[in-house]
Amino acid sequence: GSGKFFVGGNWKCNGTKDSISKLVADLNSAALENDVDIVVAPPFIYIDQVKSSLVDRIDISAQNSWIGKGGAFTGEIRNRAPAYQTPLDGLRQRQIKDQLKTWLVHGAEQLIDIGCKWVILGHSERRHIIGEDDQFIGKKAAYALSQNLKVIACIGEKLDEREAGKTFDVCFQQLKGFADYVTSWENIVIAYEPVWAIGTGKVASPEQAQEVHAAIRDWLKKSVSTEVASETRIIYGGSVSGSNSADLAKKEDIDGFLVGGASLKGPEFATIVNSVT
Ligand code: G3H
Repeated sequence: GSGKFFVGGNWKCNGTKDSISKLVADLNSAALENDVDIVVAPPFIYIDQVKSSLVDRIDISAQNSWIGKGGAFTGEIRNRAPAYQTPLDGLRQRQIKDQLKTWLVHGAEQLIDIGCKWVILGHSERRHIIGEDDQFIGKKAAYALSQNLKVIACIGEKLDEREAGKTFDVCFQQLKGFADYVTSWENIVIAYEPVWAIGTGKVASPEQAQEVHAAIRDWLKKSVSTEVASETRIIYGGSVSGSNSADLAKKEDIDGFLVGGASLKGPEFATIVNSVT
């Protein structure tokens, strides 16, 4: 593997103030291996709560960030603003626009401001449910990096693509989407998440995951550099649990995990963190 073991918990669109305060308490009291980078990604609205209550040992990630400093759709706030829902006279429209301009700072800068160090980009749920494409995601990654956010760059094939023998093609195409826009891979962790394994309980076998991780590393070597190939962490995501993480972690090119469902349970997430080999 490459670098320090990395385990991210993607809470997705889950949680309440109460459930999150319990989860944070469980994480705060868990025994966690030292030699692991640990990151959790709460929903935006709970980031501040988590930042102010979680041990510093665990870093915070956002689940998305805006493409640039344009601001017009950041967090979809402006998109939903009254100015765009009801016809307004010119003066009122301008007043609202000016007000919004002072409220909205750049997407990524807001995340830094609130204590995030990381952002998840390219997650399959945003690619396939929201419809984000490779270019859009690549631009977001470049902008986030320019704002000193580190990026968890997600890629992965759908079931029909795997069955059609296109797993590598799809992953390489998505990797290229990042490579076309970013100028350095130093602050990027690649998350390989086969879509068919996400939230399904059908985890990739250690061999299946290792095969793709090795191919990703090889692609980095050929398309970026030998150094980036050997230094970039490639983590696996898709139905990782406390009972399958240890076997996956043994594989040479698996440098950690991006955990969804099981990251909502503090003790199980700790087990996954501690499966570092
Ligand atoms: O980002 C995390 C992945 O989508 C994995 O989710 O562990 O619930 O399958 P899961």
